[in-house]
Amino acid sequence: MKDLVKKNILDLVPSATLAINEKSKELVKSGKKIYHFGFGQSPFPVPEKIVLTLKENAKKKAYLPMQGLPELRAAIAKHLNNLTNNNFSKDDILVTPGSKEAMYVMHVAFKGEVILPTSSWVSYAPQATIANNKVHWINTSRENNWFPTSEELEKKIKSIGNKNILLILNSPNNPSGAVCKNFKEIAEVAKKYKILIHSDEIYGQLSFCNKYESISSFYPEGTIISSSISKWCGAGGWRLGFIAVPKNLRNFLSRMKAVGSETFSSVSSPIQYAAIEAYSGDYTDYIIKTRNILKSVGNYVYNNLKSNNILINPPQGGFYLMPEFVNSKFKSSIDLCDSILNETGVALLPGSAFGFDKTKMLTRLSYTDFDGDEFLKNTSSYELPGNDIIEKYAPNVVEGTNKLSEWSKNL
Ligand SMILES: Cc1ncc(COP(=O)(O)O)c(C=O)c1O
Repeated sequence: MKDLVKKNILDLVPSATLAINEKSKELVKSGKKIYHFGFGQSPFPVPEKIVLTLKENAKKKAYLPMQGLPELRAAIAKHLNNLTNNNFSKDDILVTPGSKEAMYVMHVAFKGEVILPTSSWVSYAPQATIANNKVHWINTSRENNWFPTSEELEKKIKSIGNKNILLILNSPNNPSGAVCKNFKEIAEVAKKYKILIHSDEIYGQLSFCNKYESISSFYPEGTIISSSISKWCGAGGWRLGFIAVPKNLRNFLSRMKAVGSETFSSVSSPIQYAAIEAYSGDYTDYIIKTRNILKSVGNYVYNNLKSNNILINPPQGGFYLMPEFVNSKFKSSIDLCDSILNETGVALLPGSAFGFDKTKMLTRLSYTDFDGDEFLKNTSSYELPGNDIIEKYAPNVVEGTNKLSEWSKNL
């Protein structure tokens, strides 16, 4: 049998995350110490009351409504409106198995072309490719905080011409760790050309300026928001996310629902009940503590890495930093990450996985290789943990950072 696979699927390559994880596992097996700076997972436990609610609902076994439990959608809408000043109702929300699936059904339903700024999360471009939507990249720079300027966006829109356009933005950003500072200007251009924005706000509550910022405040009628309990609540493996669609795009949402109903049917029942608690309970204390830990650890890594050989912007939110290694020795960021892993045991992801040209020596560093449960138990709400606490509760991050810093001195 020949040609069993569609052309657009053939173009998909195995994700860089998987490759680095496989290689790390092999090295661990051979006895090498690995610093897992390639993972994008919350190190913190799910808050106890939410776990308890899950246990209490473990016997719930019926299929639930495809769009999600009405009580859950109402809780999500209220929670999101509090954060963003929008007026979503439960009818504007679609509950999905993780926000990744929400984005996927959006891409499948969407007829048009997609603009992605570098740096972009690893799955945006492949999802667009699977759905046969053409991707256009905007190259961003460290000087512009790794987000596109409004002029760059306008130029790109003009080059695409008269088509439906979807711009995907993610702030705080994976992988750059940056928070967008020019939402207003970007929104003005989006409005002018009536393009759609998908705002991926999965790290929204982990912004180190302690303010939830959403581009939807400037362009509510054209902004679709997605998020989930994976990052702020530490529940990535529970697989619950959502997409919120403005009322004027109700037809688009109903088509996404149609795609979802033919694929995942509905999200696991016990998880939906537990998520009602996650979205309606008060978890301010947990969020402040986890955010303070992430902020301190991120700053520790930043302060100990930045040098003439490593260019890096300070952490602004989420779990990540994006160090750039100044050198001429490597052909690609994949080669660079391979060498770093072999020589130091530090696992990083190459910038090429996030849309950057492979010759740019950019990497994604996740500073979550610590026991979040222990760290959290030993942190008080309103204090930023100092270096002594970081050294005690995040020893792998400290050691890996030192190794990386030493390694970079020989570049
Ligand atoms: C930027 C970003 N968006 C979306 C996702 C998808 O997360 P989930 O499907 O768990 O909601 C991730 C996960 O790593 C992410 O980093």
